[in-house]
Amino acid sequence: MNVGVDYYPEHWDPAMWPADAVEMKAAGITLVRLAEFAWSRLEPQEDQFDFRWLDNAIALFAAQRINIIIGTPTAAPPNWLVEKYQDILPVDHHKHPVYPGVRCHRCYNSPSLRRHALNIIEALTRHYVGHSAVIGWQTDNEIAANDCHCENCTREFRSWLQRKYLTLENLNQAWGTVVWSGEYSAWSQVTTPLGGSPHHNPSFVLDFQRFSSDSAADFNRFQAEIIRKNCPRHFVTHNLWGYPVVTDYYRLFDPMDFVSVDYYPSTDLKDDTKAAIYHGALTLDLTRGVKRKNFWVMEQLSGTPGCWNPMSRAPWPGMIRAHGWQSISRGADSIIHFRWRTARAGAEQFWHGLLDSHGHPGRRLAEFKTFASEVAQLNDLISGTRLHNEVALLFSHEQNNAFNIQPQSDGFDYFKNLKQLHQTLVRQGVGVDVINWTENVDDYTLVVAPFLFLEDAAVALTLENYVKGGGTLVLTTRTGVKNSFNVCQSDYLPGLLGGIGGIRVEEYDPVGFDKQKILLFKDEIGCSQWCDIIMPITAKTIGVYASDFFSGRSAVTVNAVGKGSVYYIGSVLDDSGYRRLFADILRECRIEFIDDLPAGVELSVRCDKTKRLLFILNLTKEQQSVSLPERVRYDAFSGEAVLPTLSLGPFEVRIVLEE
Ligand code: GAL
Ligand code: ZN
Repeated sequence: MNVGVDYYPEHWDPAMWPADAVEMKAAGITLVRLAEFAWSRLEPQEDQFDFRWLDNAIALFAAQRINIIIGTPTAAPPNWLVEKYQDILPVDHHKHPVYPGVRCHRCYNSPSLRRHALNIIEALTRHYVGHSAVIGWQTDNEIAANDCHCENCTREFRSWLQRKYLTLENLNQAWGTVVWSGEYSAWSQVTTPLGGSPHHNPSFVLDFQRFSSDSAADFNRFQAEIIRKNCPRHFVTHNLWGYPVVTDYYRLFDPMDFVSVDYYPSTDLKDDTKAAIYHGALTLDLTRGVKRKNFWVMEQLSGTPGCWNPMSRAPWPGMIRAHGWQSISRGADSIIHFRWRTARAGAEQFWHGLLDSHGHPGRRLAEFKTFASEVAQLNDLISGTRLHNEVALLFSHEQNNAFNIQPQSDGFDYFKNLKQLHQTLVRQGVGVDVINWTENVDDYTLVVAPFLFLEDAAVALTLENYVKGGGTLVLTTRTGVKNSFNVCQSDYLPGLLGGIGGIRVEEYDPVGFDKQKILLFKDEIGCSQWCDIIMPITAKTIGVYASDFFSGRSAVTVNAVGKGSVYYIGSVLDDSGYRRLFADILRECRIEFIDDLPAGVELSVRCDKTKRLLFILNLTKEQQSVSLPERVRYDAFSGEAVLPTLSLGPFEVRIVLEE
């Protein structure tokens, strides 16, 4: 395991570099990421490369036995390049170019970008292939599906559609373009979705997003191929931005050795917005799920975030260290903190690193050092361990995109709703693998497959076989609504999964913010957003509505199929409702759980053949108390016995060996 930092030597006087390298070494740093965004220094003029400054910086780190990851600089094309080759700039849906000045002003389908990216990556990889300190590469930075409407993208989109549909008739048919006279009579009429209306044909928009995502993935693959050809012994990774996004990360990371994530947990801890506590756990679980293996954190919170928003709170004492351990507890094998020094210039002056602008060591660097030395201490124990969870939660970029294209009801948000399910299990101390919805799930005891809006015959078959073989599956409302062209299918909901669900949805009510009630196992719980009025066929009703015109009708069911069972939740339950239901499901599945961990306390287990390491984290500013199931436990640092009931101080982390 490595602990490191992101460093931008080009932002600083070279006279500062040697001391920085020495101080990094003293802080326990074994790895530094360099050069992403430094294109204007690496190639100041067309085809004139200058790697001397980078050589000098790398030599200083190498002398301290610090290893290097080089980032390809393609997220920041220099001005000379953009001036000369204007097709580099993406074009928005009003046909306005995205001008340089920030970053990511590059269209993945621009031939000029490809040509110049090839040149610089060729030059860099040939130059550093033999350098003993360089161990791997990061492609670009946070590649996201561009919403680009330039001529190259328009042409490529057309070819993408031609490959998919072969004929225009097929496309017209699949998208249902007859509605509002949208039929195409020549390929030349097919453009990207211009004008930015949210009411474009949803089939058109979803395909454009698929195309945009594929363009991003193709650009990443293109970079990986150059790196692999020239540096076959180096790893290639990429740093993902976070969730949820249009880009299909499963495809984006196909050509990568492992996934890296940029992890900035919220320092505010006020509410359950995107940034709140459990967003972090979900981000890390999703990241581990991309390749279903351990990952790296390429950028980890080091100081007050700012720049893109007004600055948020400074990391509370203990937070930097606790979130470093949280990342490891959920599968990270190396943690690189962003960044060593806070920038003094440029847009990100207020996105703080370990050192403030004055550069003198302070509280945050001290905390980082503690973290780095702890990681070094437990390195042998943790290296080679991974998570083996019994529960899978299925996620899908496609479903997310389809729901965003057509919001379903007030408050219905696919990702938030998925997060609530994840959080229910996290609050019960249950480890969850969040994986792509198309994956094989046979290894899991319980699979939660929520909101499978777009149906897929192969997925339906996988789930059916899983259940027949003894698995427990949880399905929810808004399942089986559409086919893969984003067109409503013609059967009762939940479509292809209705058989194993043992139900059909007779009618539904998008209740939005109107709160409704369900009697679940005789307990009254709340629900909202959506109410499916279910007709059980072979399923047993375990929850009935207790409000509104559908009072008395089935809301939650369970159906026995082969050796397994299928639950169907016809609404979006409130937190206590989900907790109540999952307590029952987990008991049925014989999965160990804790009734209700204090909010912000997280458990995670990493293991190998010989040991089980339990991480217990308090990610709050308050004292918390946790009661674990009885078991023999020892503190990983001190070897002292650990009792089942623990009191945890703010941001306290306990790592224990379990028997
Ligand atoms: C990341 C990005 C970094 C830096 C950081 C802080 O998303 O990769 O380059 O911008 O955020 O804003
Ligand atoms: Zn483009």
